[in-house]
Amino acid sequence: MEEKKEKEIVLSGIRATGNLHIGNYFGALSKFVRMQQDDKYENLFFVADLHALTTAPDPAALHANVRSIVTEYLAAGIDPEKSTIFVQSDVPEVSELYLLLNMHVGIGELMRTASFKDKARKALGIHSDSDNIESEIIGNESTSKRVNAGLLTYPTLMAVDILIQKAQKVPVGKDQEQHLELTRRFARRFNNFYGVELFPEPYNFDFGGKPVKVPGLDGSGKMGKSEGNCIYLIDDEKTLRKKVMRAVTDQGPTEPNSEPTQPIANLFSLMELASTPDTVEHFRKAYADCSIRYGDLKKQLAEDLVALTAPIRERIQAISGDDAYIGRVLREGAEKARERAARTLSEAREVMGIRKFY
Ligand code: TYM
Repeated sequence: MEEKKEKEIVLSGIRATGNLHIGNYFGALSKFVRMQQDDKYENLFFVADLHALTTAPDPAALHANVRSIVTEYLAAGIDPEKSTIFVQSDVPEVSELYLLLNMHVGIGELMRTASFKDKARKALGIHSDSDNIESEIIGNESTSKRVNAGLLTYPTLMAVDILIQKAQKVPVGKDQEQHLELTRRFARRFNNFYGVELFPEPYNFDFGGKPVKVPGLDGSGKMGKSEGNCIYLIDDEKTLRKKVMRAVTDQGPTEPNSEPTQPIANLFSLMELASTPDTVEHFRKAYADCSIRYGDLKKQLAEDLVALTAPIRERIQAISGDDAYIGRVLREGAEKARERAARTLSEAREVMGIRKFY
């Protein structure tokens, strides 16, 4: 009899902090949708609501954000028949393993994480790029501005999301790679400490390509919600076109075959994601021979982005009022995610010596 091959576990999540932008789409969501088409993967996609609490907790906004991200998942093509869709806090096993794994995580390594430093700087209102913010955090006595312990232990929680499902592939954008590296380190450390092979080491996945960093429209390096430089999946055509037409550019190339400046390189990067290779080639040639007109490039880019987002936006509108459907998807997803999580948690408890006397 032919042996049944076990499927590889794929898991990824997005924080519930607002609507999804095309950085989330190209960096993560579009990969989720593609991975479903391959039978060798078992996919779990979730909304990270606990992670959202590490910055700006607001109960009403949190609940609305979870709903909108689930809606956007479904609208972008994540199929609940093929993938498990769930909310992080619906799996309480995650919170317990988070506590347990934290016993093997050093505060030093957490404090050195780039995303922690970045968010800590923002929380304290520090604008300098100084790397030495540890003393500012420890010495800070303000009651209104603080760096909470949840922010510090953010990577432990993310590692647990992944390890509790024993996921091997974690499709994420480039900005999450340091967190994945920490996850591998924590998994290795735990396995070595207890002499077990409980947690597999997870890796990013990009269909053979490089993980992307989608740039902002303001000439900056990264599109991000807190940067205010985003194109959202829900932006209507007019808004989207306006944002693209306003994107930062420069005076134009003055010498043939010159290297594009950052804002122009950003526009080409966006075009590579949204437009056909022929279109990109056409504008690259025009840049190289100095005949390029940025207005034309932007118009084409806006056109291609509208073509991509319009059908998603239509489906968002169709799904968003259907509470019964959303509720059913999330209840079924939570059950499946909990089943796997409970198994791993009980293995971890056993390994660590947390055993019952009754
Ligand atoms: P978050 O919510 O910041 O982002 C969600 C996903 O979108 C990707 N992304 C981008 N990719 C390319 N270019 C951009 N400009 C861009 N902006 C965002 C992110 O890389 C990510 O894949 N910590 C995670 C959430 C999380 C998670 C997990 C992910 C919690 N637990 C377990 C995977 C596995 C986060 O904050 O993503």
